[in-house]
Amino acid sequence: MWQDFPLFPEQASTIARGVDALYFYLVGVSVFFSILIFTLIFSFAIIYRRRSEDERPKAIHGSMSLELFWSGVPLIIAMSFFGWGASLYFTNSRAPVGAMELHVVGKQWMWKIQHPEGPREINELHVPVGRAVRLIMTSEDVIHSFFVPAFRVKMDVLPGRYTTVWFEATKPGEYHLFCAEYCGTEHSRMGGKVIVMDAVSYERWVSGEGAGESMAQAGQRLFSELRCDTCHQPEGTGRGPALEGVFGSVVALQNGQSVEADEAYLRESILNPGARVVAGFNPVMPTFQGQVNEEQLLQIIAYLKTLGDGGVAGAAPQQGGGVNTP
Ligand code: CUA
Repeated sequence: MWQDFPLFPEQASTIARGVDALYFYLVGVSVFFSILIFTLIFSFAIIYRRRSEDERPKAIHGSMSLELFWSGVPLIIAMSFFGWGASLYFTNSRAPVGAMELHVVGKQWMWKIQHPEGPREINELHVPVGRAVRLIMTSEDVIHSFFVPAFRVKMDVLPGRYTTVWFEATKPGEYHLFCAEYCGTEHSRMGGKVIVMDAVSYERWVSGEGAGESMAQAGQRLFSELRCDTCHQPEGTGRGPALEGVFGSVVALQNGQSVEADEAYLRESILNPGARVVAGFNPVMPTFQGQVNEEQLLQIIAYLKTLGDGGVAGAAPQQGGGVNTP
């Protein structure tokens, strides 16, 4: 619609239209009231101007109905911002079940992306069209922000934490990817492109790139190279808790509390094992800080996710792996 005059980036994701609609509504309301207020200021200044030196206005003692009117109407308008904004926010922050998961690591000054099947890329992100994609993101150094204007998504990428963002691209093509948080000298050049492909080309791309091991297989290799398996044995016979089915479960802790074993908890337990020790175990695990980088952490977590019900690593690294083509 703005092809000849690109005030707005293309609408290339399922949520783009909704975000724009809310934006136009906010602009519309602001413009309407700005015009109304300016018109009233000028016309009142003329209509009620002082016409002679000794003119005294009549005393007014307020009007309940007027007070209610100008309190009630703005309340309704403000609540419409809130209601609409909140519902959009919830839609945009919860990825649909079965979304494919890709992993993003931000670093001064590049975006590193890992696909579960194995391919890795830098400053490029290949995704299939018409399929929900959830990004699990972290930073190796400072705060970055993952921003794809055409998808209307932007999310901070923080060191020591996982943040997620999801989108479903609606048209094949190439879209700009930016870092939207000042992160040092080369911040303005920390960008790239998102390449949206049809499902068949994407499958071909993934299998063409992914000659190596999958993320889960790499994680499994690290798991044995780092000797995690000497303590974390199946059936809980080792010195550490068994990790089968741990991802997504609720874990009882030594201090009486409990925690959901999500990506953040698994990451913390690898880097800072003493922080939240599982009930019934001693804090004997050494830290792996400095021995595994962010990408390797994601690989180990990808492997732990496959341990769902004793499944074989690499066989199904993707949750809800069914391809839902449009
Ligand atoms: Cu990374 Cu700005």
